[in-house]
Amino acid sequence: MSKKETILSGMQPSGELHIGNLEAALKNWVKLQDDYNMFCCIVDWHALTGDYEHTDILKERVFQLAVDYMSAGLDPEKCAIFIQSDVKEHAELHLLFSMMITVPTLTRLPTYTEKKEEKGLDSYGFLGYPVLQAADICVYNANKVPVGKDQEKHVWLAADLAGRFNNLYGETFVIPQALFTKIPVIPGQDGRKMSKSYNNHIPIAAGEKETVDKIKKYFTDPQKIRKGDPGRPEICPIYQLHLVYTPDAENIIAPPCRTGELGCVDCKMKLAANLNESLRPLREKRVVIENNKDYIWDVLKNGGLRARERAAAVMDKVRSAMKMDYFKQ
Ligand code: TRP
Repeated sequence: MSKKETILSGMQPSGELHIGNLEAALKNWVKLQDDYNMFCCIVDWHALTGDYEHTDILKERVFQLAVDYMSAGLDPEKCAIFIQSDVKEHAELHLLFSMMITVPTLTRLPTYTEKKEEKGLDSYGFLGYPVLQAADICVYNANKVPVGKDQEKHVWLAADLAGRFNNLYGETFVIPQALFTKIPVIPGQDGRKMSKSYNNHIPIAAGEKETVDKIKKYFTDPQKIRKGDPGRPEICPIYQLHLVYTPDAENIIAPPCRTGELGCVDCKMKLAANLNESLRPLREKRVVIENNKDYIWDVLKNGGLRARERAAAVMDKVRSAMKMDYFKQ
């Protein structure tokens, strides 16, 4: 066994990955894969909590997310890329954890109240979403979980469950910790956080022309109506993106925007060109591996084997800690 710490990370196969996911999560995972023993999960069961009726699209979405993972630079030699439902131990631990947590603890979580209202969800499975996430993490005895601030409480809940289990049945789980990194702000077209559910996103797989069209539709400073009007970069979503994609934006974009010299149309075209340039290698790689279907499914299958090996060992410990290893003499 390697001495490296273990990381578990996951995303839902809920449709097109966008540049917000790429900047906030994937690029960071890619950096971590050299230093950690890494498990990158495609959480298809979690996707069912939002929509259990349309399972016909899942296979393609799982496939596309695997393509996204790998085009962004996740290397199957370095990390296990796998599908959650391929490792049934997640479900077993979810069930055990579900005994150890109260319903009010779950209904108090902000993620629960928000999504419940937003999507009209009220299923038993949806309530248990964070418990399943805790199982995803603990079934690998992960030390670290790279997440955004919105997931902080979920990792805390996983740590709480792991600690509670250890107190009850004896030291079994590692207590996981969230790994926060500095995440750039990636606003969508309406200026809100980029998100598929707001439909304000730029898919990483979008063509260059489509990317330009999406950038053209962005809100800018409402007081800057035509070229010549002074603009306020600090409130402009396009400027936020320049800070990520345009080197030295503070000096080449902000000042001429403020004086009015740089109009919004030109400013957007500059951004679109830089964004397309930054995504080009990833998109080129994406086209190649997307056509290599057998290879992708092989990666997922092998990743599943590696993940299962680790998860099965942890679940053996869990069963013996709970004195439920009935057939062991
Ligand atoms: N809830 C996470 C999200 O919405 C996805 C997720 C499921 C996850 N299981 C996980 C993230 C385990 C990290 C670790 O982004």
